[in-house]
Amino acid sequence: MSDPEIRTRYLDLLERSLTHTLYAGADAVGYPPRSRIRRLLLRLLRRRGLVPVRILPEQERLQREGRTWPLFAHTMIGVERLNSLRRCVETVLADGVPGDLIEAGVWRGGASILMRGVLEANGVTDRTVWVADSFRGLPEPSSAYPADRGADWHTADYLAVSLDEVKANFVRYGLLDDQVRFVEGWFRDTLPALTAESWAVVRLDGDMYESTMDALVNLYPRLAPGGFLIVDDYAIPSCRQAVDDFRQSEAIEEPLETVDWTGVYWRRGTAASNPASGATNTSDVS
Ligand SMILES: C[S@@+](CC[C@H](N)C(=O)[O-])C[C@H]1O[C@@H](n2cnc3c(N)ncnc32)[C@H](O)[C@@H]1O
Repeated sequence: MSDPEIRTRYLDLLERSLTHTLYAGADAVGYPPRSRIRRLLLRLLRRRGLVPVRILPEQERLQREGRTWPLFAHTMIGVERLNSLRRCVETVLADGVPGDLIEAGVWRGGASILMRGVLEANGVTDRTVWVADSFRGLPEPSSAYPADRGADWHTADYLAVSLDEVKANFVRYGLLDDQVRFVEGWFRDTLPALTAESWAVVRLDGDMYESTMDALVNLYPRLAPGGFLIVDDYAIPSCRQAVDDFRQSEAIEEPLETVDWTGVYWRRGTAASNPASGATNTSDVS
């Protein structure tokens, strides 16, 4: 096999590991139950090493499409969005777009791990992957953001993954080193401090209006021309509104490209075609 073929195969395999789609039907939905009593019961069972699992009839398709909160996968964004992220990173490397890569909202870290994997596969040693999260879940909705009114993601323990757990996931893939930097805390407190970096890829996955807007306001100004701004949650009305408000206030005219049923991106300040929307994967991921 040639070097490019080996690289492609490695990244294909990495994507399948991260999405847990290597094993047919092997993952399951890990949704936390809504009722308090059931949640308590769940905690009790977990302490005994037992995990109740609800296997949906269409689990495999839902997981590939990134519509579930998976039990085992290291990312919930599904095959299409992960593959598109890979193409964005490969494109900025090929085009020499300067800057680091950042994900704001990482959960178990899978999408950030992929970005580090793409750097590794391409022998890139002068770029860093920044991994920004509270590492304790989403914030309570603030009255300053009416679009977030009623949001209850902050009650979902399932979305709270500790920094240690995320680091351990990087270690599983042999991808934790000094090219990975962790930014712990609420975006509103942490992201304004990242003023020394410039970005080639910014990936937003914070679901809420506040989280999306905090990331846009603090990261977009330093996105290099030719860099990608990726939004995971455009199907969520609060996130969509933040993106639309920001694009309008900044008079951003670059077209919003669709990745799948919820993922979108735009490429800053370039009229180049959109390489991130066509499959480069040698394997069938459709
Ligand atoms: C939907 S999950 C991210 C999924 C992840 N990108 C993946 O690949 O599976 C949302 C994450 O955003 C984080 N988050 C949301 N809003 C935040 C905020 N304002 N500050 C810090 N972290 C936030 C949560 O802790 C959670 O880990």
